[in-house]
Order: sequence, then structure tokens, then C-alpha cells
Amino acid sequence: MNFYVLTLFPDMIEQGLNTSITGRALEKGLLTLKTVDIRDFSEDKHKRVDDYSYGGGAGMIMAPGPVYRAHQYVEQYINARKRAAENTGAGIEEVQSINKKTRVIYLTPQGNVFNQSMALKFAGEEDLIFLCGHYEGIDERVLEMIVTDCVSIGDYVLTGGELPAMVMMDAIARLVPGVLNNDASAEFESFQDNLLEYPQYTRPEVFMGKAVPEVLLSGHHAKIEEWRKEQSILRTAKTRPDLLEKAELTKEELKFLRDYLE
Ligand code: ADE
Repeated sequence: MNFYVLTLFPDMIEQGLNTSITGRALEKGLLTLKTVDIRDFSEDKHKRVDDYSYGGGAGMIMAPGPVYRAHQYVEQYINARKRAAENTGAGIEEVQSINKKTRVIYLTPQGNVFNQSMALKFAGEEDLIFLCGHYEGIDERVLEMIVTDCVSIGDYVLTGGELPAMVMMDAIARLVPGVLNNDASAEFESFQDNLLEYPQYTRPEVFMGKAVPEVLLSGHHAKIEEWRKEQSILRTAKTRPDLLEKAELTKEELKFLRDYLE
């Protein structure tokens, strides 16, 4: 998985991603990251990238030119990279994808709200370009020309798209095979089947008078599975009833839920 980020704050992205699990994945080459500083593509003598809003208004708008040129640069970079892979005998898929337009994700509170199924969909791509805005946003014309997906990470407004891009890259990266030590696909996770994850415990068996639920010590795998599923259902019912509507439950699980709700 290759991440490309068009941003005014490349250091923020580099430092964030070069840490912890994504940092290790970058070292191993399971992920690559290239940040592109939009300011480098300004043709203004003071390297300005923003300007006043047509029609008036308080905030400044990112001008289309630098964003357009930064995107062109990154597209060319991706194609050159694919051609180099072709010459070193890379897989046929890589060669076939030369000149295929790479998805460009614009981070904006006006986008579709990010979720786990979007993360799964994006994890299937070979290359992803993230476009981070600042100030009051980016001139609409360049967005219409280059953006394929507008994504929000929630109903609140941040100062820029860098943190949302990092959130997305983290969620996508952990779905790339080998990034997590465990086999993530085999494990139950929150949002799988539209349920939240059950509670987890480790040693000691009793902590400040609070014991681990007995069923987990029983060694009875079927009972443990049943208990975990019930806990998932309860948690989801309490905090995310909207998700539960989409969950597929067995007859027994539905009865368990009804008994709880009564
Ligand atoms: N930029 C500012 N706020 C944002 C949000 N909530 N999601 C994505 N991009 C943003």
C-alpha cells in the first residue's frame, strides 16, 4: 500500500505515521509514504497558497493552481514508479495499472463519514492520494478536476485535513496483510457484523477485588464464544443501537436481546 499526501504540513504527517505500528510497517516496506508540500508548487514570490474568497467572507481559500500542480506531480511520480517496477520484472497487475487514475481522497467535513467498510474498500487499492485542506477550504474547481472521494471523519470541524488523513491511513494500514502481528482477518473486531467488540481481560485474575468473568476461565470454548457474542450485542444495544439494526442475529441471539430490552 502506497500513501501519497498533498499537504501544507508534511512534517506532521511524517511524524505521525513514522511512529508505532505504522512506523514499523513503513520500515518493513509493507507501506510507503510520500508527502508532497503544496507550497512548493506556489508560483507566488512569497510562496503564498491562499487568497480571498470571491463573494466575500472571513476566511482564506486555498488557490487551485498549487493544488493542481502538486497533484500532477504526484500522478507523474506514481506512473514513473510503476514503470520502474515494470523494468524490474514486477507483477503484471502493477504494469497494467500504469496510467490508471489513482483515487484522490479529499478530507472535508462535507464528505461521506468514514467507517470500517470504507477502510476495507480503500485497503484494496495499491495507491491512495490524500488531499489535506487548510483555511476555509480549497477552490471548488480544482476539487472537481482531481478529487474522486470526499471523506469526513465525523461531525466536527478540525483546523485541517492532516489529522483526518492520518486517521484514515491508520485504519487502512492495519488491514494490509502483515501490518499487525496477529492475523487480523481471523479475529473479531468492533464493527464486524455491525457489532461492537466484547470486553477483554488479562492477568491478574482478581484486580482490586474485581474478578474476571468466570466463563472466561472455564476453558469451554463454545460457552466463551456465546458469552462474547452476548456481550457484543449488549454493548451495541447500549451505545450504538443504530448499528444493531443492521446486525444479523440468530433466533437465540434475538431472544437474548429481547429479554435484555424488556
Ligand atoms: N477537515 C476539517 N474537519 C474535518 C473532518 N471532520 N473530517 C475530515 N476533514 C476535515
